Amino acid sequence: MFANDLKSVASLVKGMSKVGIHKNKLDDFYRAQASSYNDFRSKLLAGRFDMLKKLCIREGHSIADFGCGTGQVLDYLNPTFIHSLERVDLVDICSPLLDKAKEKEKNFMNVNVVSCSAEEYRPDTLFDRIYFSYSMTMMPTWFESLRNAYRLLKPSGFIGVVDFCSQPLLTPVDLPTKMSFFWTKWFQHSGVHLNRRYQSTLIGMFETVYHEYFTQPLPYLSFLKAPYYIFIGRK
Ligand SMILES: C[S@@+](CC[C@H](N)C(=O)[O-])C[C@H]1O[C@@H](n2cnc3c(N)ncnc32)[C@H](O)[C@@H]1O
Repeated sequence: MFANDLKSVASLVKGMSKVGIHKNKLDDFYRAQASSYNDFRSKLLAGRFDMLKKLCIREGHSIADFGCGTGQVLDYLNPTFIHSLERVDLVDICSPLLDKAKEKEKNFMNVNVVSCSAEEYRPDTLFDRIYFSYSMTMMPTWFESLRNAYRLLKPSGFIGVVDFCSQPLLTPVDLPTKMSFFWTKWFQHSGVHLNRRYQSTLIGMFETVYHEYFTQPLPYLSFLKAPYYIFIGRK
């Protein structure tokens, strides 16, 4: 297990290139990690199952995962339940991770893996639920992606976001602290850009159903507790 995690740790230590085309940077960053992605990310990316539960996905729903990676979030749902959904679109631009998602697609008639950026995705349908699991902070065009998600949601549809953040929920006086500076720099190295505007935009764009802040010990560095939030909003 540890040897497998080493590939992911090595890529995280090396970091993501700061220059070049976004897709190429993602492909380069994730290429060496694709085989170890799911094991390591299940220790690093907390709250994904909670976010899914709070999204209240029901039989017959159509759902879309924006920035799906390997599509690992689907593993939190029972396969029988996945079969009962109208449609599941897994959207991403990173080829090495999408190759893994395609292995999952083979098991379901209603799961579609789509190689497209979240902001440019224009399917011929609207969704009951759209979620971003640790992906918004890696999208330079996060606002356009979010606006696209809004457009693609049915009236009263739900959006779910789980992601790292630099500090707790927005407060009237939102002062930068040493820790928020630390986490912003820490994640920036791996192409994850923390920004208080994600949460304020979500609050402005959607009716808040649930919004909570948590911390999660980092794998192998449990003295460091990374802040993350879950947001559920209604269109
Ligand atoms: C940290 S991974 C999270 C993957 C997955 N959602 C999960 O929870 O395991 C971030 C993902 O966002 C994807 N991503 C970044 N920018 C994107 C964009 N503009 N459109 C679609 N996906 C994007 C990356 O390729 C990567 O797969």
